[in-house]
Amino acid sequence: MPVVPLTTAALRAAINQLPRFPLGHYPTPLEHLPRFSQAVGGPEIYIKRDDCTGLAIGGNKTRHNEFLIADALRQGADIIVWGAGVQSNNCRQTAAACAKAGLDIHLVLGRGRPANGPDVVQGNLLLDHIVGAHVDIVEAKIGAELDECIAQVAARHTANGRRVYAWDRHKVKPLAAVSYALCVTEIVEQSSAAGWAPTALYVSSAGSTGAGVVVGQRALGLSCPVRSIAPIKWDWDTQADMAQIADDAARLIGLDLGIRRDDVDVSFDSIGPGYGHLSDDGCAALALLARTEGILLDPSYTGKAMAGLISDVCNGRLKSGDRVVFIHTGGTPALFAYHAGLVEKIPARRLV
Ligand SMILES: Cc1ncc(COP(=O)(O)O)c(C=O)c1O
Repeated sequence: MPVVPLTTAALRAAINQLPRFPLGHYPTPLEHLPRFSQAVGGPEIYIKRDDCTGLAIGGNKTRHNEFLIADALRQGADIIVWGAGVQSNNCRQTAAACAKAGLDIHLVLGRGRPANGPDVVQGNLLLDHIVGAHVDIVEAKIGAELDECIAQVAARHTANGRRVYAWDRHKVKPLAAVSYALCVTEIVEQSSAAGWAPTALYVSSAGSTGAGVVVGQRALGLSCPVRSIAPIKWDWDTQADMAQIADDAARLIGLDLGIRRDDVDVSFDSIGPGYGHLSDDGCAALALLARTEGILLDPSYTGKAMAGLISDVCNGRLKSGDRVVFIHTGGTPALFAYHAGLVEKIPARRLV
């Protein structure tokens, strides 16, 4: 078993042992945000542009799917049965990945009760349609209830003789997380080539993505903290769950990192009125980044995560002298589904 800390090359080599189906554009850019940093007032803020991973408008699931699609193909699957919320970025990117890999995809999307009714065929749902996913919208809550619907659809396809790669959290989450250890290798190499090192990493996550960043941090022996800003409060102990995902992901690449609950830092303070519902702080953060740097966040994940980062500047957790990397996990198509609420919450600029 390799001894940690690893070099970035050694971590990449360990990850490269796993089957991989190439989907994305890497490394994604790491950009300084000078006008945004000045407006927030405190640390220097950088952004890792994983909204630019490619594959039907980009996002974190491009990285995840390189490993998941490879696993599905290795198992001889001919269809993926997947599901989440109706404006799921995950499902949109998985559907696009299936199109590229020549797999069928059946999406089971939970309507939920979002404030602005984003189940109009817009945003991610429109893209699901265009890339050729079979979409069913069901009245199920995301979590165990929706997982049950997905399992039923998967069983039906199996009974019809299809070879199904079905969503199973114990299997897919650690495999997806591995991909975010790779993202950390990019951040370390890019910042070090520019002559600096991050003092904190921020990411929107309550699952695989944040867990994978922790794997990268631990495997490379980084001293900077990883802070996940949760978009959702699951019914389970999220910190313990993410620690388990991270530890399982590490084992998949031959590392015993002994990651425990306390090694995972998750904030639930930026969820606002609920998962998929616009928050005032999230919309303000989204507008500030757009209006200082011309970079678009999304309303459900990255806008809220950026609000969490800004709140940590206000409460003194992040200070001037810090160099913070915010990982932009994508989600921008959802902007178009939430247009009514965004127009309401983001004041128009009027020039005299
Ligand atoms: C844009 C965006 N950011 C972050 C996340 C969180 O990812 P994870 O579930 O891996 O924590 C998601 C999940 O769908 C997402 O769509």
